[in-house]
Amino acid sequence: MRVTIREPRPSDAEAHRAAVLRSVALLSPWNPVDPDGFHELLRQQGPSLRTYLIINDEDGGIVGKCNVANIVRARFRNATLGYDSYLPYTGTGRMSEGMRLIVDRCFAPYPDGLGLHRLEINVQPDNSRSIAMAKRLGFRHEGFSPRMLWINDAWRDHERFALTAEEWPGLES
Ligand SMILES: CC(C)(COP(=O)(O)OP(=O)(O)OC[C@H]1O[C@@H](n2cnc3c(N)ncnc32)[C@H](O)[C@@H]1OP(=O)(O)O)[C@@H](O)C(=O)NCCC(=O)NCCS
Repeated sequence: MRVTIREPRPSDAEAHRAAVLRSVALLSPWNPVDPDGFHELLRQQGPSLRTYLIINDEDGGIVGKCNVANIVRARFRNATLGYDSYLPYTGTGRMSEGMRLIVDRCFAPYPDGLGLHRLEINVQPDNSRSIAMAKRLGFRHEGFSPRMLWINDAWRDHERFALTAEEWPGLES
C-alpha cells in the first residue's frame, strides 16, 4: 500500500486547488471542475455526503478525491461514488489502491465505517478509464441510464455499475 485515506480538512484547500488546476485537462471532459470549491465541499459534509482524500504516503500529496454521495440509510443503505485522480499520480495505480480503502470504509460496520450495503458508480459510456476503475474494483455492470446527470451543459447518459457488501473481498459476515 502506497496510500492512505482520510477526511478532508480546511488546511488541504491550497493543495487541493493546486492539484485540480494541474489536472483540469484530465478532469474537465467528465466532471465539473471547481478549484475554489473546497470549502463549500467541507461545508456540505454530513449524513448524505462524505468525502475522502487519497494521500500519497511518500510525499503527502493528494492522489485523488472520492465523494461518497447520495447516502441513504434505512432499508437501502446505499451511496454513489464519484472520484477524480490528480496529476502527477494519475495512472500509477495509487488511485485504485485508495478506492479499495474507501470501499472497505463504506462497507465496514458503523461507527468505524459507513455501514453501507450497496455502492453505485455511474460513468459516461466513453469514459474508459473510469469504467476500467469500476471493473477493477469488482463492480458489476447493472444497466444504462439515459440522460442521467447534467455535465458540461447537457444531460449525459451513464453506464451504471454496482457492488454489494456480500461481493466485497475481505468483508467479514
Ligand atoms: C478515472 C480515474 C479516476 C482513474 O484514475 P487513475 O489515476 O488512472 O487510476 P489508477 O492509476 O489507479 O489506474 C490504474 C492504471 O494505472 C496503471 N498502473 C500503473 N502503475 C500501476 C501500479 N503500480 N499498480 C497498479 N496499476 C498501475 C494500471 O495499469 C491502470 O492502467 P489501465 O487503466 O490502462 O489498466 C482518472 O482517470 C480520472 O480522474 N479521470 C477524470 C475524472 C473522471 O473521469 N472521474 C470519474 C467520473 S465517473
